Amino acid sequence: MKRAITSRLSKFYERSPEARLVVLREMGAVDDASFAHLARGGSLDVTVADHMSENVIATHALPLGVGLNFVINGRDVLVPMAVEEPSVVAAASNAARMVRASGGFFGEADAPIMTAQIQLDDVPEPTAACARILEARSRLVALGDASIPRMVARGGGVRDLDVRVLDEALGVIVLHVHVDVGDCMGANTVDTVAEAMAPTVHEIAGGTMGLRILTNLPLRRLVRVRAEVRDEDVGGAELADGIARASRFAELDVFRAVTHNKGFMNGLDAAAIALGQDFRAIEAGAHAFAAHRGQYRPLSTWKRKPGGLVGEAELPLAVGTAGGLSSAHPGVRAALDMLGASNAGELAVALASVGLASNLAALRALAGEGIQRGHMRLHERKHNVQADPAPALNGSRSEVGR
Ligand code: MEV
Repeated sequence: MKRAITSRLSKFYERSPEARLVVLREMGAVDDASFAHLARGGSLDVTVADHMSENVIATHALPLGVGLNFVINGRDVLVPMAVEEPSVVAAASNAARMVRASGGFFGEADAPIMTAQIQLDDVPEPTAACARILEARSRLVALGDASIPRMVARGGGVRDLDVRVLDEALGVIVLHVHVDVGDCMGANTVDTVAEAMAPTVHEIAGGTMGLRILTNLPLRRLVRVRAEVRDEDVGGAELADGIARASRFAELDVFRAVTHNKGFMNGLDAAAIALGQDFRAIEAGAHAFAAHRGQYRPLSTWKRKPGGLVGEAELPLAVGTAGGLSSAHPGVRAALDMLGASNAGELAVALASVGLASNLAALRALAGEGIQRGHMRLHERKHNVQADPAPALNGSRSEVGR
């Protein structure tokens, strides 16, 4: 049942957690099973956890909130976000509201191509060996596809190969195997393909077998998002100028770029964690991408246009709506259902949009009153919780999720 979802939920922040959940259920954003799971606190059963990891003694919880006001490619989207840092959810929701007035976020994701590497050392005549590998392309593709029959049946499979000499004198070569992994994150799939192909590649090239593993810089799996915001919605032309200058600062200076990107990843990671994604892979890929042209760069920019700003972001995102935690973890199932992404590409666009919203909120705060005032208001709430957990649940939430 897909449902009349609106992400514009006024005064959501004033309700109790239980009442917020009821709003989501009444809208059809969570089904009965997810509602029951979340109403019990959303924690993972220890016996389930014991099957996921090792030496398990308990589970570890984070606050799970909802990013509001998002419109992504014309659709209202509720964004589940798991994060301990105060103001991340509120800030992303506030920025999404500003962007919403100009139509929301627009984005597209490349086909879900993951890349594995096969390394060989001590290869005699490495350039000639590379040519022989490419001549055997169709045999290698068939071997790779044969190792992932279920993925091939679902429309995925090996799409391309390329090979490079890394060190002529030492005979180091690397073969890249590009695989369509459908709606999966795809790490296991490409690792399987690489291990299946490697003995034949070794036989063709000679030398010593090296690693067979994915790269966490999946350059063929980029996502791009774009948003506009009007001067009056960010607080005036002066503030919009300040946001554009802050963005340029990040383009000019690595020390600023990394903090700019941290602010971008604040929202993206929070959503990725709630949605059960491999956030270590996402982080590794994002920062490698930021640096892959030789200088570490901002993942997003905000530039002036007449009467407003245009924000753009591009990064690789290896994420999936199938496999991984999507079926094993009831909280992740609930989160994926709430987001409503129908495939991995839509999930990637949603995550990048949350990143761009977080980034806009951070730059706006920094270009205006500074980050500390808002932070301190929210920190105060945290201290109230530590002193007396019960009243704080309904305590002052003046700026959360407006
Ligand atoms: C804090 O978690 C994130 C910021 O430092 C990001 C930024 O400076 O753009 C506020």
